[in-house]
Amino acid sequence: MNKLFIFVFLALIATAFAVNNVKIQPEQPKNEGFLPLCMICSYVVDKVDDYLQAHTNTTQIVSMVEHDCQELQKSDWINKCDNIVSEYLGEIITLLEEKKSAEIVCKVITLC
Ligand SMILES: *[C@@H]1O[C@H](CO)[C@@H](O)[C@H](O)[C@H]1NC(C)=O
Repeated sequence: MNKLFIFVFLALIATAFAVNNVKIQPEQPKNEGFLPLCMICSYVVDKVDDYLQAHTNTTQIVSMVEHDCQELQKSDWINKCDNIVSEYLGEIITLLEEKKSAEIVCKVITLC
């Protein structure tokens, strides 16, 4: 009788975990290579901002930020980072010179 009780108890726990797993999975999609564009944008904009404060010219900023992009390790992230630099650097610099925050800059260029 006792053993049966324990068995039923364990079965209930197992069921609870199974149900929980089903609920949890959609919130943890299995795409480990995924880093949102928005975060990469903020990374780029922060770097550009630092270099602007140091009065670095645009040519230098391009090569320095492209170097920073390499730190993102994964080729997918590095490519996205490089694309942001090549497509939006001018706009990013203009917005930063207007004292816009990284958050606003990335919203304006529609990456956040
Ligand atoms: C940017 O600065 C570097 C180093 O000071 C200089 O060699 C280069 O000619 C400058 N480029 C522009 C476009 O001003």
